[in-house]
Amino acid sequence: MTHTVLLLNGPNLNLLGTREPEVYGADTLDDIVADLRAYAEGRGVEIEAFQSNVEGALIDRLHQARGRVDGVVFNPGAFTHYSYALRDAIAGTELAVIETHLSNVHAREEFRHRSVLAEVCVGVVAGFGRHSYRVALDALLLHLGQTGSSS
Ligand code: DQA
Repeated sequence: MTHTVLLLNGPNLNLLGTREPEVYGADTLDDIVADLRAYAEGRGVEIEAFQSNVEGALIDRLHQARGRVDGVVFNPGAFTHYSYALRDAIAGTELAVIETHLSNVHAREEFRHRSVLAEVCVGVVAGFGRHSYRVALDALLLHLGQTGSSS
């Protein structure tokens, strides 16, 4: 494997499959993780997956990943819109993070239009449903190719 990527999912994403399927689709988080693992394998990438509803647990996972993984595909859920602690964790660990959303947050409620994390992320992918994760992985790999980082 040429790269190790952390797939991080935040609050309420454990409910995927039954949570507002008209917004988030019918796939469970397990389906999404399995799909990304298979997709990643074909690209020589190993995926470590972690989900938590707890802000501190996500921060701890970012700290553990520091210097150990090549990048992070991160759906921070609602923390996207207000977690300065996660923002500081991303900035402080200097990890290459792709902020990732299933839904097009810009086509939804006003409070979802603002991300306090985007500024410290490599980029943002939103609106492609479960495919957002594949798009985010591809974007991360292109970014790593540019910066020459690999493990
Ligand atoms: C989300 C969008 C967020 O606004 C929301 O709070 C979520 C899911 C998405 O994947 O579309 O929990 O991150």
